[in-house]
Amino acid sequence: MVIDCKSISKEIDESVKERIAKLGFQPKLVAITSRPDPSTVTYLNSQAKKAKKLGIDFDVMEGTNMSELTKVISTLASDDTVHGIFLTHPLPKDVDEFELTLKIPPEKDVEGRTPYNLGMLIYEKEFFPPCTAEAAIKILEKTVELRGKRVTVIGRSVTVGKPVEIMLLKKGRDATVTVCHSKTQNIKEITLASDIVVVAVGRAKFLKPDMVREGTIVIDVGINVVDNELVGDVDPAVEEKAMVTPVPGGVGRVTTSLLMEHVVRAAERQGK
Ligand SMILES: NC(=O)c1ccc[n+]([C@@H]2O[C@H](COP(=O)([O-])OP(=O)(O)OC[C@H]3O[C@@H](n4cnc5c(N)ncnc54)[C@H](OP(=O)(O)O)[C@@H]3O)[C@@H](O)[C@H]2O)c1
Repeated sequence: MVIDCKSISKEIDESVKERIAKLGFQPKLVAITSRPDPSTVTYLNSQAKKAKKLGIDFDVMEGTNMSELTKVISTLASDDTVHGIFLTHPLPKDVDEFELTLKIPPEKDVEGRTPYNLGMLIYEKEFFPPCTAEAAIKILEKTVELRGKRVTVIGRSVTVGKPVEIMLLKKGRDATVTVCHSKTQNIKEITLASDIVVVAVGRAKFLKPDMVREGTIVIDVGINVVDNELVGDVDPAVEEKAMVTPVPGGVGRVTTSLLMEHVVRAAERQGK
């Protein structure tokens, strides 16, 4: 069975449109990129399309090295007409991403990448949580009662795995979380004992049908390009026994809507 993520994203988009109408000015989002590859270009195009549809001004700025990127960030940080900033991946190898995120003002960090916004998660305050992690949580909350559920998260990246794990533990959500990564032994034994599996590995068809029980809820975060097609981390055969988010049109769709919601929230807080 496929989990309907379209209605979740539509609900977010509708509230974003209403809130923009009340703002009295147009919020602005700027993506910072460095020699974008074809998949980054596709990602940016979909952001631009969504922003236009919702009434958000969207711009892209480029920097090819640490000094150019630092300059772009500091220009945007002090520009009152810019409400949200995000850095696209991949960045050049010689760029220190951590150092760059330190230069993004937390109130403009709509992707939730700065140490401030990630640290807020530990205190159970979701100021700007990372959009993809928030999308996974939102889909789960719309689908199932999390309290007491055994959740396995496969992946421990800063972008997805770690924030999802922390957010699942938040009081009120109260999931019991197991984390797997590339050094974990016998993942199948762990997923078979889980009610929910969140897969953020970046390997096509990683989660196989024999790794889940009947009725498991599976959140497929993966985006992989195979033979020019987008596929997730979950083998499509898993849908025969579990409830799975689709790829494309699942976590990615909700993530884009949430990014726009964060831009509006940033504009509301900045108030100009
Ligand atoms: N839908 C969206 O909006 C969205 C947004 C961001 C990312 N994504 C997609 O989500 C996927 C994950 O992204 P990411 O940024 O988290 O990737 P990442 O930084 O490459 O992290 C991948 C994680 O998977 C683990 N892993 C790799 N091979 C494994 C294996 N054989 N068994 C168990 N764990 C394994 C790694 O373990 P180690 O830590 O031990 O290396 C790592 O923690 C990618 O496909 C990406 O494109 C989607």
